[in-house]
Amino acid sequence: MTSAFITRRATPDERVALDKLAAKCLDAHGGLPQLLDPDFAAALFPDDALILCRDATQQLVAALALTHESDDSAFFSLLILPTVTGDIATEIFAAAETLSTRRVQIFRCESVNPRTTDAFSPAGEQFFSEYVMSRPTHGMVPVDFSNPTHPWTDDNAPLFFAAYQGSFRERPGFPDPSQEEWIADQVESEEFHREWSRVALDESGTPLGFVLVDDDQIWQMGVIPAARRQGVGRQLLTHAVHALGALGKPDAWLNVNLNNPAAIALYESVGFEVVGQRSRFRREI
Ligand SMILES: CC(C)(COP(=O)(O)OP(=O)(O)OC[C@H]1O[C@@H](n2cnc3c(N)ncnc32)[C@H](O)[C@@H]1OP(=O)(O)O)[C@@H](O)C(=O)NCCC(=O)NCCS
Repeated sequence: MTSAFITRRATPDERVALDKLAAKCLDAHGGLPQLLDPDFAAALFPDDALILCRDATQQLVAALALTHESDDSAFFSLLILPTVTGDIATEIFAAAETLSTRRVQIFRCESVNPRTTDAFSPAGEQFFSEYVMSRPTHGMVPVDFSNPTHPWTDDNAPLFFAAYQGSFRERPGFPDPSQEEWIADQVESEEFHREWSRVALDESGTPLGFVLVDDDQIWQMGVIPAARRQGVGRQLLTHAVHALGALGKPDAWLNVNLNNPAAIALYESVGFEVVGQRSRFRREI
């Protein structure tokens, strides 16, 4: 059995234990390596609303943190050790209710394993799930780049937006942001690579597709329906992986929704492999 307790401010030892828990989860079932970045981990698991669950030997087996609340929902980060035994779900849900009494509880898990999905299967639903995929940046087969591409500049940003809107409009849950909102979201990141993010245009200057590169990730890419299955996606992706290699990144990373077989097939066709899963779970109290 586990015992949960609230730490209103995690001690340095507890933060070390939390880092180890993240490393064990990544080792066992993968996920984005950013989970080991102290700033990323601190944002996911803030000290002031953190619950750590330990087993009888005092080993940390799960961590839960409230990150924010809206009028009716509470948003949590969660990590569960894949080897934990016992009824961890009851303890996690009871712990969550001590942090917030909002009716809807959303749990973000950056390294999903069978224990995580077991915990939610009777009590909640997995409503968003992405594979984490990766490949080395070296050894890409070069492709002939027949469509001219252009880097992100203030002048070109609306062309990227047109490519984004055309490519994603039909995807389930398309958020339909305004051009201003979408552009502001991209340039907000300090790691956004303007030079290596590219929009492909046809000879008349119409946007065919785009790729955005951020830190060591292919952050977003898409091709408009009329230009699909002509190699535009593969060209943009290959270009982006080369760019990450030129920036000194050993591996390229990306996330792709489990319900997007076309994109998964594209990524696999250039050597990306699934190295983990990240999900959001939803439960009502
Ligand atoms: C996924 C997407 C970018 C693919 O772009 P594309 O230009 O059509 O891809 P390519 O023509 O370069 O395809 C390269 C390979 O990917 C695979 N592939 C691409 N689309 C596929 C599909 N619909 N079904 C099966 N395999 C597919 C194939 O292996 C293909 O090689 P082939 O045509 O020689 O068989 C495009 O479908 C798209 O924009 N979808 C909507 C937005 C989106 O989902 N973006 C990715 C979010 S993570």
